[in-house]
Amino acid sequence: MDLELSGKKALVTGGSEGIGKAITRALAREGCDVVICARRPDVLEAAAKELAAETGRKIVPVAADLTKDADAANFIRKGHETLGRIDILVNNAGSAPGGVIETLSEEDWEKGLQLKFMGYVRCLRHALPIMVKQGGGRVVNLIGNDGVKPSYWEVVPGAANAAGQNLTKALAGQYGKHNISFVAVNPGPVRTERWAGLVAAMSRDMGLPYEEADKLAPASIPLGRIAESEECGKLVAMLASPLMHMVNGTMIEIDGGQEKALMDRLRDRP
Ligand SMILES: NC(=O)c1ccc[n+]([C@@H]2O[C@H](COP(=O)([O-])OP(=O)(O)OC[C@H]3O[C@@H](n4cnc5c(N)ncnc54)[C@H](OP(=O)(O)O)[C@@H]3O)[C@@H](O)[C@H]2O)c1
Repeated sequence: MDLELSGKKALVTGGSEGIGKAITRALAREGCDVVICARRPDVLEAAAKELAAETGRKIVPVAADLTKDADAANFIRKGHETLGRIDILVNNAGSAPGGVIETLSEEDWEKGLQLKFMGYVRCLRHALPIMVKQGGGRVVNLIGNDGVKPSYWEVVPGAANAAGQNLTKALAGQYGKHNISFVAVNPGPVRTERWAGLVAAMSRDMGLPYEEADKLAPASIPLGRIAESEECGKLVAMLASPLMHMVNGTMIEIDGGQEKALMDRLRDRP
């Protein structure tokens, strides 16, 4: 099936690594030009170069720290100037600290919400007026399944994600009249650059050897494995397609049917 993405213009936050890079690759393979942002300019520029060479599309890096509103504004403005329009905005850059409530500090909570929720809010605030003016657009918010499948070790990401999911649905209600549609994608565990770090943090907090901690996620997933970044990238490209415009104000899990609560129970096992 032709996804009708050829010639579309997209912005992807956190496009230099992990899921964001896979999303950029999938969109570019379908014929989109993409402007990507991240904080480290060297990694960002290398990713843009690599993906442009691989796909033959225009991939333009704009360094930005999305915890700062001025950077978010500059990313959206430069992206719009470079591409001439914004057909697709993928909010993806984010992470929030894992841990249990007893050990999480005020700063941890602040940090999680600042990027994982407010980073999305900032880009939306700057991009939506442009989409309204051009007569429509598509927003894909890459969020996380812990917003709908709570786990006590993931209370900060869970809260930030639930907020993002709520925002996705609320904005769909407001912006339909402007032909702008919204969808949230909720991955479970995905193999990215920082996956090993997450397992190490779990192992430390739960007092489990690394190898045991590494088995928790696959054991909670009926398919017995975590997802690959490329699987998320392809799902986002499909959902970004104009063919999916009616998939609006809703969300899709890509987690192999994970029973997240099972991870908590497995952690608690003596
Ligand atoms: N991996 C998983 O298991 C998993 C599961 C569920 C949901 N998710 C969600 O999926 C999204 C992508 O996760 P990932 O695992 O691919 O992350 P990742 O591998 O850590 O990549 C994160 C990307 O965001 C950029 N970034 C980080 N902080 C930023 C900031 N303040 N401003 C701008 N860019 C920033 C990073 O580049 P710089 O460091 O150079 O800024 C990088 O390009 C996140 O929203 C995450 O919460 C991931």
